[in-house]
Amino acid sequence: MKLEKVMLMYRAQIPATTANLGPGFDVLGMALDFHNLIEVEQIESGLEIEVEGLGEGELPVDEDNLAYQAMDFLFTRADYTPPGLRIKLINRVPLARGLGSSATVIVGGLAIANHLAGQPYSKAELLNFATELEGHPDNVAPALLGGVVISVLPEEGGVVYKELGSPQLSTVVGIPDFMLSTTEAREVLPAQVAFSDAIFNSSRIALLVAALMTEDYQLLSLCFEDRLHQSYRQDLVPGLEEVIKETKEAGALAVALSGAGPSIVALTLEKEELVGQRMVQTFAKHGIAADYKITQPAVEGVLVEEIE
Ligand code: HSE
Repeated sequence: MKLEKVMLMYRAQIPATTANLGPGFDVLGMALDFHNLIEVEQIESGLEIEVEGLGEGELPVDEDNLAYQAMDFLFTRADYTPPGLRIKLINRVPLARGLGSSATVIVGGLAIANHLAGQPYSKAELLNFATELEGHPDNVAPALLGGVVISVLPEEGGVVYKELGSPQLSTVVGIPDFMLSTTEAREVLPAQVAFSDAIFNSSRIALLVAALMTEDYQLLSLCFEDRLHQSYRQDLVPGLEEVIKETKEAGALAVALSGAGPSIVALTLEKEELVGQRMVQTFAKHGIAADYKITQPAVEGVLVEEIE
């Protein structure tokens, strides 16, 4: 039995995410079809961590590593003690860009730890753990479940969520060449907002959910508007307002800050290259180097497989 445990090795594939989807601050998120990988092997003793790809040589490779912390969080609750762990992070999701890189690591770490511990927890319980670690559910929910997810955090009890599936749209992300921590991007938000701004957002969230459910994508332009966070983050993302305006003019249906930024996400049925190029050109006008990536909503959330 012990020998069998030592041999176990799992690989998790976890999608990038874009949170908020315009007005859905801390509530809506969507999985994107590019992924981070985490491989974990049980070894006889100790902790070995390797980072390959983005963040190599920068991210911690000791007990401060976020994947390890997520695994340890679950092991503690499950009262499971692995002999030793070898963890390899294969990172392709840009770090601190509003594309859910930390959510991939938290969700991947929890999902593999759950397998190693004998799957004591359901997806709903993993979502609660991930939300506790991340602080808000809107990135971790789609990273875990795939597609678009609505997550509500009641005052008591765990996250209540509903999966909306994946819209049949292309997604273009404009990725500026600088990092922005979510903590910093949340510090600029006000403690209170105007009643009219609350109505502005709640009306658009309601319409956005209906538009996605009925595939009425022409409504998305209106539904992606926001007054709860984007304008407050304008100074942290030079050119934000103009990039959104220009990207829409280039043919995108809907454009918003992706999560806490600094990336911009556009949903479109056409002209993906033009949309991406316009994002990059407009950022350049504001002195910001950027790149773009054409992708699509990811149907699946985290997938864990046992490997040789
Ligand atoms: N809803 C969060 C925020 C997402 O906008 O701060 C962080 O990625």
